[in-house]
Amino acid sequence: MSQFVWEEKYDVGVRHFNNQHKQLLDALRDVYKAMENKQDKAAIALVINNLIKYAKEHLAQEEACLLENKYPDFENHKKLHEVFISKIIQFYDDFKSDKFSLHFEIAIFLKNWITNHIMVVDRKYTDFLNNKGIH
Ligand SMILES: [Fe+2]
Ligand SMILES: [Fe+2]
Repeated sequence: MSQFVWEEKYDVGVRHFNNQHKQLLDALRDVYKAMENKQDKAAIALVINNLIKYAKEHLAQEEACLLENKYPDFENHKKLHEVFISKIIQFYDDFKSDKFSLHFEIAIFLKNWITNHIMVVDRKYTDFLNNKGIH
């Protein structure tokens, strides 16, 4: 993940979701840039905004698609998305209270999410959705 560019290993088999997942790699790149740039505050505010947008668009659309297609593990998947949302809310609050290590924490969180959610949990719906003609 060193360059934070999209690679085949992130492929979840649904083009629209792959495109949305790329936004998290973009966010990760932006966080690193902000860290190099003396913990640029305006840049991190933009990242948090983008993560809120990501949650509203991507997580909601993924859930709608899984629910509509009666994905068996829907409830569990949705619960994990709720963990993401509460973490982003926490980052937003931390930003307002000028938390010192916020850049670093966001970077770690995004890396873990890409590795543990996109590459494992999202990846589990690939065959299920592909078999329903969703690519
Ligand atoms: Fe996803
Ligand atoms: Fe997901």
